[in-house]
Amino acid sequence: MFKLTDFNYHNKTVFFRADLNSPMSKGRIISDARFKAVLPSLIYLLEHGAKLVIGTHQGRPYDDEFETTEEHAKILSELLNIDVEYVEDIFGKYARERINSLKAGEAIILENLRFASEEARTAPLNACERTFFVRKLAPLIDFFVNDAFATSHRSSPSLVGFARIKPMIPGFLMEKEIKALKRAYESDDSPKVYILGGAKIDDSLRVAENVLKSGKAHLILTGGLVGHIFTFAKGYDLGDANVDFLHSKGLLDFIDWAEKILNEFYPYIRTPVDFAIDYEGERLEIDLLSDEKALFDKHSILDIGSRTVEKYSQLLKKAKIIVANGPMGVFEREEFAHGTVGVFRAIGESDAFSIVGGGHSIASIYKYNIEGISHISTGGGAMLSFFGGKRLPVLEAFKISYERFKDKV
Ligand code: 3PG
Repeated sequence: MFKLTDFNYHNKTVFFRADLNSPMSKGRIISDARFKAVLPSLIYLLEHGAKLVIGTHQGRPYDDEFETTEEHAKILSELLNIDVEYVEDIFGKYARERINSLKAGEAIILENLRFASEEARTAPLNACERTFFVRKLAPLIDFFVNDAFATSHRSSPSLVGFARIKPMIPGFLMEKEIKALKRAYESDDSPKVYILGGAKIDDSLRVAENVLKSGKAHLILTGGLVGHIFTFAKGYDLGDANVDFLHSKGLLDFIDWAEKILNEFYPYIRTPVDFAIDYEGERLEIDLLSDEKALFDKHSILDIGSRTVEKYSQLLKKAKIIVANGPMGVFEREEFAHGTVGVFRAIGESDAFSIVGGGHSIASIYKYNIEGISHISTGGGAMLSFFGGKRLPVLEAFKISYERFKDKV
């Protein structure tokens, strides 16, 4: 792979693929974490005289968070202290004119790349190369810098399409993420503890299966919906309300897969011993083995309980490597943040080399000022794909581009 410092960018046009896809509430961005994460690369390129064309996606078609990049331009302008113009076009005539008129040290941001149909789908690199997006923009750009680690598990035109046409260079964030994830995955230190929470069930099950089978994990602690699935798979009943919820999300089918993993690795997978529900507007903690668990029939579980936090925290003290993805509960509601914050604090307090990832997880880390985590990853799905043993198309594309253009350095 190239390094960002390998090339001279003065007066060169750089297409900079970022992942500024951010959580939104009422149409407004509520976390600038992914913006701040790419600042070192953006500042480096601007200081070295690049003409910057920034591209990102935001949300998915028909989602609430599928929005224009107008607000992204404002946030970038504030953080970079220069005017980053919002260009309401992607590869049409207007965008191409704006790109052509850029001067050294100037930056624009294109419209949400997923407004273009080709970008909203994934396809192999050679198909991405033939898209209108790549064919229209390639003649205007000199370099392709990709700092969108959080989308490195997707193969779409703006992420891989320029790899064989222009030098494709990882930004500082991309380099840092890959280094940290590889360190955790390949380290011989032990014990290695994985914490799987949140709602990405199939990705999390794949991680559990991969790291246990390959001996990369010695213990898996579960929470969030991942914890519910494993708890059901262990034969515990979490009540009608929680069965109905998993059913409505199409997640019940995953219990069989979780059972299969447990058949082989039961002692290595820990599930919550207590849970918190919303009982008449208040947090109520219920032990999984108590009679009160009848309340699970009418009340959704929204967090792990304090006893689970305590147990997990003790286990984390001995860990040498910790990898965590996804929250333990609905941390957006203050009274149900206890599990997520408690477990993340325990990670921060341990001496282990630790990685925590996932858009929601990051938001809770900043909101509750949790310190001491070695690497906070911007990647949710990308991080899970990596630890799930999948090949990441963007990482593959870096290698292809390096082989093709290495003589140009
Ligand atoms: C993410 O937030 O995980 C990335 O931006 C990728 O988004 P996607 O899952 O919609 O491709």
